[in-house]
Amino acid sequence: MHKINIIHLGIGNVGKEFIKEIGEVSPSWKRKYGIFLNYCGMFGSKGGVFDAEGLSEKKIKNFPKTSSGVDVKEVLEAIADPFILIDTTASDKTLELFMLTFSHGGYVVTSNKKPFTQSQEQFDQLEKYFGKKIFFETTVGAALPVISTLNNFIDTGDSISEIKGCFSGTLGYIFFHLEEGMLFSQAVKQAKERGFTEPDPRDDLSGMDVARKALILARLLGKRIEIEDIKTESLYPQNMDGLTVDKFMETIRRFDNEYKKKICKVGARSRTLRYVASVTASSCTVGVEEVEKNGDLGNLKGPDNIIVFKTKRYDKNPLVVRGPGAGASVTAEGVLADVLEAAKFIYHS
Ligand SMILES: NC(=O)c1ccc[n+]([C@@H]2O[C@H](COP(=O)([O-])OP(=O)(O)OC[C@H]3O[C@@H](n4cnc5c(N)ncnc54)[C@H](OP(=O)(O)O)[C@@H]3O)[C@@H](O)[C@H]2O)c1
Repeated sequence: MHKINIIHLGIGNVGKEFIKEIGEVSPSWKRKYGIFLNYCGMFGSKGGVFDAEGLSEKKIKNFPKTSSGVDVKEVLEAIADPFILIDTTASDKTLELFMLTFSHGGYVVTSNKKPFTQSQEQFDQLEKYFGKKIFFETTVGAALPVISTLNNFIDTGDSISEIKGCFSGTLGYIFFHLEEGMLFSQAVKQAKERGFTEPDPRDDLSGMDVARKALILARLLGKRIEIEDIKTESLYPQNMDGLTVDKFMETIRRFDNEYKKKICKVGARSRTLRYVASVTASSCTVGVEEVEKNGDLGNLKGPDNIIVFKTKRYDKNPLVVRGPGAGASVTAEGVLADVLEAAKFIYHS
């Protein structure tokens, strides 16, 4: 039996679901692959708990109350067996822990976009470990095969002319419901109530989340680019950044008429609005776009994502990846798939 230690950072929506799913698949992974995942460390932003023999169900269930103030750096420095650091935080501080992990022979699996979207210089440091030591499919489109598809194109000598799509479940949900006649403020409120938005919906409405995903894809295409270089359209004015979330939710009613008019105007020409990211060798843009109602992007329903790859080989008929691009359960499933990928690497390389 091959034992792999798991150190897990970020026990939020995705993290909790990951713990549940790991418990469900463990018996079949033991049988099928001879892999035993030893879930031995869990950490929040204020510390965590570690037991080299594996954490008891009680300790896992009662986290963070069971947190004993252990420092994750000390654990990563001391751990002996093969190990995988899982990052399901939304923190911009974990890059340092990734580097520590690599220097101690460990592997990283992450759904956190932030370590990939800081400076180009930091991305260059991480890039050395891609495909060998770090697995991050879920940073774009959750469990949809976006990064693996892009890598397959590059590895098989195809050349990508454009990646275009709707990368945000939240913004997809909002624009689809605008089209159905819902007011902008209602659509945002409903998206928030259904758990599609970040706790502060401005994180989605500012376009930053989509810009980060576009930045990852652009950098994977070889473009040297910073987040500030991406033209990002926000759905609200910057002077609303200082409001409380409640006040912000109240104030967005003032945009209802504007969005109603916009969607009616394009609807009269059988077109609609979508929040679109477009990445090519020479440009990277993120914002609201008028699209054909019956086209790939216009057809998108609810919180689904769509990513359209136009390449030398897939030119007239581009390759389309489509489906749920957010949600704790599908994202955790994608993280788990990356853990299996890393585990196979550990024992077959
Ligand atoms: N939810 C989705 O549908 C989805 C889809 C694709 C990708 N993702 C990405 O997956 C990540 C997790 O998403 P989520 O929805 O689970 O977010 P979340 O519910 O906010 O969970 C993040 C957790 O990380 C913890 N945390 C913050 N800083 C930390 C640190 N330095 N060390 C350890 N823990 C820390 C936070 O709790 P404490 O601060 O209390 O410890 C929180 O529990 C994010 O990066 C998100 O962008 C999410």
